[in-house]
Amino acid sequence: MTLQPQTAVGTPQSRVDGRLKVTGQAPYAADHGPDDGVSNVRFAVVVDSSVGRGRITGFDTRAALAQPGVLTVIHHGNSPRLPYVDNPGSNNPQPGTRLRVFQDDRVLFFGQPVAVVVAETLETAQHAASLVGVTYAAEAPSTDLTRAPADEPASYARGDADNAWAQAPVRLDLSYRMARNHHNPMEPHATIARWDGDNLTLWDKTQWVVGGTQQEVAAVFGIPQQSVRVISPFVGGGFGSGLRAWPHTTIAALAARVTGQPVKLVLSRRQLYFGTGYRPAYTYALKVASDRRGQLTAMVHDVKSETSSYEKFTEAVLLPGQMLYSMPHVRQAYSTVPLDVNTPIWMRGPGFATGVHVIECALDELAHELRIDPIELRLRNEPGKDPSTGLPFSTRRLRECYTVGAREFGWHGRNPKPGVTRDGDWLIGTGMAAAVYDTGGFPAQAHVRLHADGTALVQAATSDMGPGTYTSMPQVAADALGLTMQTVTFRLGDSVMPPTGPHGGSTTMASVGTAIQLGSDQVRSQAITLAVNDSRSPLHGVRPEDVIVRKGRMHLKNDPTRGESYQQLLTRNQRPHLEAIGTYTGAVHDRFSMSAYGAVFAEVAVDARLGIVRLRRMLGVYDAGKIVNPKLADSQAIGGMVGGIGQALLEHTVTDPRDGRIANANLADYLVPVNADIPNLQAIYLNGNDPETNPLGVKGLGEITLVGVAPAIANAVFHATGRRLRDFPITAEALL
Ligand code: MOS
Repeated sequence: MTLQPQTAVGTPQSRVDGRLKVTGQAPYAADHGPDDGVSNVRFAVVVDSSVGRGRITGFDTRAALAQPGVLTVIHHGNSPRLPYVDNPGSNNPQPGTRLRVFQDDRVLFFGQPVAVVVAETLETAQHAASLVGVTYAAEAPSTDLTRAPADEPASYARGDADNAWAQAPVRLDLSYRMARNHHNPMEPHATIARWDGDNLTLWDKTQWVVGGTQQEVAAVFGIPQQSVRVISPFVGGGFGSGLRAWPHTTIAALAARVTGQPVKLVLSRRQLYFGTGYRPAYTYALKVASDRRGQLTAMVHDVKSETSSYEKFTEAVLLPGQMLYSMPHVRQAYSTVPLDVNTPIWMRGPGFATGVHVIECALDELAHELRIDPIELRLRNEPGKDPSTGLPFSTRRLRECYTVGAREFGWHGRNPKPGVTRDGDWLIGTGMAAAVYDTGGFPAQAHVRLHADGTALVQAATSDMGPGTYTSMPQVAADALGLTMQTVTFRLGDSVMPPTGPHGGSTTMASVGTAIQLGSDQVRSQAITLAVNDSRSPLHGVRPEDVIVRKGRMHLKNDPTRGESYQQLLTRNQRPHLEAIGTYTGAVHDRFSMSAYGAVFAEVAVDARLGIVRLRRMLGVYDAGKIVNPKLADSQAIGGMVGGIGQALLEHTVTDPRDGRIANANLADYLVPVNADIPNLQAIYLNGNDPETNPLGVKGLGEITLVGVAPAIANAVFHATGRRLRDFPITAEALL
């Protein structure tokens, strides 16, 4: 097969759906209406538990039901029993028993759905929900991971880390705490459910229409997967919160079942804090050992994170400790602490955003202790192959990230001494950190159809929560088909389309993009074969591998005058279209160690009297393989950095230990960075390609752009103040 010219991939395209979004025409889950087949919709409002643990002893629904326009109040006392068949396929990846809505009287966490009101208007449903009386036999909830027993840990070991640490000339013994973080996407989670006989249609906010929502809801109701259709064309942010179906999706479907009417359920901002998941809180003890020149010899990681009492959520928090730096001795233990809370879920940079955070703060402590430049320390411990597997790296250009970053940021001019650089009342500091996130790829399929008019339609059941999937996928298809971007349409977000994996883990371009490329290659090849075998074609009899396609016209690579358009070929042959399904079987991890890398540099100013931290500038340099769309890549980096700034300085879900209530379940008290918090953020992508990792040579952008941000800021705060803070987020109170 010839190598097609790349005219769309690698170019800075604007979002093809940008106009739809900024003019309010892009339908998010709750926006679907009569034009989409959603008429006479009823409104559901969830009643949440006001205790953190215990049993429901009774309901008083009389006042709610007396409201004109209220159709029903459903709770465990009157709900149909739901089969809740196991769903080993994909959606319930955590060991345990998923929350079964309205199936019994038990309360497992504060805010658990205990009833739902369905009414003719939203206002009626909201008011009636406030009138539902629920009585409880409340028990004291356990919500603090430092005060509850942990499960049996998962472990990893190489060498004899404890012994090596005990005998090392340079030793650190550090304890970190990371707060719980919530995703807080702008679009709240929402579902519209409509039954047609035994078939269910869901318009749902989801990052995974097939595995996340379709398979799970089918399993909950014990009906065939094909009886559930999930439609989700636009997702207003997710960051991981949409990677499984939460209880409200089942509740919407249940309410529609009971009332026989289409039902819309939108979680309130407050309900998002316990109605969906979150990045769990962690305690992380890290021991570091090195020789006097900064050669690492051992690390001992003791990691604990919160999970619910009913599911054991774990993530890839141990991986960076196994492969980011070269050292002979590593021991890790990772246990979860079951609490009376709802189940966590992945959040941008899952696992790595915690593990790298701790390791990179500790490396900065070691650099300070040894009076070695932080970059030099990292270079001295840069492995030649993956220290955990012995596999070669597909590509690992972290050294270049440091070199380019140090130069562009102006790193080497800094005075390494902390707490001495001032600008009036402000203490100034700079810090850096490395970043890594493993590169994966899930099995995916895509349908590619080339029409006789020379346009193409590509479809796959992925999501686009914001990275720009709607735009980057046509870039891939356009080049592989030899079309312009304007003549390729890409549709996504419907479970009737070819299945894809979760839209998460920075895998969508690798997975769906590869499926699209493979499908497009097949279609282009079909067209060329048709032409060379067609005696009426100018390409009759030429070798197929000598033909390339540009702007919809096939021609000889070395003689552009000899050729014809797809349109001419298909019309003459009376072929309405050519089509193929591209199938990607997923990333193979047994030959290479495959990760994206980055180096993040931050400058902060800390008010010497008030402890306020202001970020002054930030630079990220990334080794992320091929960049399909530099404009969207920049957007990913800015978003990732903003998320990391929140993680470092602001985001902290606070639980009231008395009753398990989330004390700051709103965007006034749960702090996220706003424009005024964000200075100039710069991203540089090393011009790269990683063909061993996937045919597109991409390594993913969504996670790597967040991972190193928080430690770079923490290290800059130390450099500014001389204060080493190991509880995150870093607050003004702690710096006072
Ligand atoms: Mo994400 S945690 O890649 O949605």
